[in-house]
Amino acid sequence: MSRVGPGGAVRLGLPPMLLGRVKPLEAILETAEKKSLHRSLGPIQLMLFGIGCIIGTGIFVLTAAGAQKAGPGLMLAFAIAGVICVVAALCYAEIAAAVPVSGSAYTYTYATMGELLAWTVGWALVLEYAIAASAVSVGWSGYFAGSILGETLGIHLPPWLSAGPLALGGVEGGLINLPAALIALLVTWLLMIGTSESAKVNAVLVAIKVTALTIFIALTLPQVDVEQFNPFLPAGVFGGFGTGVGAVGAAATIFFAYVGFDAVSTAAEETRDPQRNVPIGLVGSLLFCTVFYILVAAGAIGTIGGQPIMGPGGIPFPAGSEELARQCALPVHAGALVCSDEALAHVLRQIGYSGIGNALGYAAFLALPSVILVLLFAQTRIFFVMSRDGLLPERLSRVHPKWKTPHVVTALTGAVVALGAAFFPVGQLADIANAGTLYAFMMVAVAVMVLRRTDPARKRAFRVPALWLIGPATILGCLFLFFNLPREAMIVLPVWSVIGLVIYFGYSRSRSHLGHGVVEVPEAELDSIEPDAPAIH
Ligand code: ALA
Repeated sequence: MSRVGPGGAVRLGLPPMLLGRVKPLEAILETAEKKSLHRSLGPIQLMLFGIGCIIGTGIFVLTAAGAQKAGPGLMLAFAIAGVICVVAALCYAEIAAAVPVSGSAYTYTYATMGELLAWTVGWALVLEYAIAASAVSVGWSGYFAGSILGETLGIHLPPWLSAGPLALGGVEGGLINLPAALIALLVTWLLMIGTSESAKVNAVLVAIKVTALTIFIALTLPQVDVEQFNPFLPAGVFGGFGTGVGAVGAAATIFFAYVGFDAVSTAAEETRDPQRNVPIGLVGSLLFCTVFYILVAAGAIGTIGGQPIMGPGGIPFPAGSEELARQCALPVHAGALVCSDEALAHVLRQIGYSGIGNALGYAAFLALPSVILVLLFAQTRIFFVMSRDGLLPERLSRVHPKWKTPHVVTALTGAVVALGAAFFPVGQLADIANAGTLYAFMMVAVAVMVLRRTDPARKRAFRVPALWLIGPATILGCLFLFFNLPREAMIVLPVWSVIGLVIYFGYSRSRSHLGHGVVEVPEAELDSIEPDAPAIH
């Protein structure tokens, strides 16, 4: 434990009341040095790790919601979201290499812009990780109910057991998504007893996902009918503020398909030659996924069509809405891509490959839980670090004597994730998760630029080329996607932030260890649990 003076804000020349309490970087780095992880990871392992975190519900499920928003313009949407993620990834690569410790965007912000903003980032990361884990659970449940129960076992779950009620106005007949809640609880339990995914398991799951998508592309592309791409942009490029439709509206939703790459940056301190390998790992996995995603979207829409079901005024019905559910029940829309809960398996069945469609369903069934695991893991570690800093009750960071995991915070987080999964539709969860993630990405870009100014001489294992272009491009890209989310998702972030600020000023600020001039450098506790990147070890 070391004591520091209140000098951080002064160093940055920030108003001490609000933007003070900058955590000294040296104290943070002491933690990393103590951990001194072995630098063993190369570019291929990093890419595998990235792809393992990235490919999930976004491509397997949200393809349907994306098509409902943009039609064939979904391909453009994947490209837009992919480019914004690549520039954000470069910023992540620099700061993760300079500040290679737990806590991701929260810690980076603490070290550069102070406690208050760090709190807002940590609070927004709850949306990124916990709500995203709920979204992936709901995505998994679509494949479980469709491919496993329905197609294979002939058991058809009634809607009241397989969908939540809380879509915009309520999906017809939905009450609780039981499979989604159960998978979230199962993964929580695995994490509590100390399960972490080994690199080998991750590699196998990546192989399963990539094989499934490759087969999908190989079977669909030869059958593409270019007429299906016409009109290419049925809802336009910009569908209108707050509507969440059009190509950029779809980009804001489908951004979810890329979320998770930031986990790669947390492996920076375990990477050989990070200056070269971290950016290769991050950008490589993103580019790989972008190309795959565009090809998958082309194959899905080019074969069975993916035009949105239009509502009044020629605006597509909102994805996940009651109106859309009603339209999907009409015979005229039977088999439409935009109505499917298991989009990719559905496409294969529609074009005559039922067996392979089911096999793709099994692949999603097997592989999506590992995405839930990574997201939940990341969430519990962020809470763990925040509570270790005194900003959340310390009870939360208690480590279980036998399992060596922060079991209290894991159980609480898992319960919330299961509730979200039980009651909300996947598209809305993904949009809300995106809102929080975009805020965190933006703050990381700001943090990189601030650190270049305040601490130019610091050794950086990786430097963003043309930072003064890439940094602002990341910030603008994140703002652009945020303001193209549906209105309801946009509103969640400020409301969530206000709740967070009430907690900060009512509870956390007065209990902050840094506020008391104490910087804890945890030793035994942190060593006894896994660091941020579960899939690597
Ligand atoms: N990118 C991850 C997914 O699509 C979160 O499931």
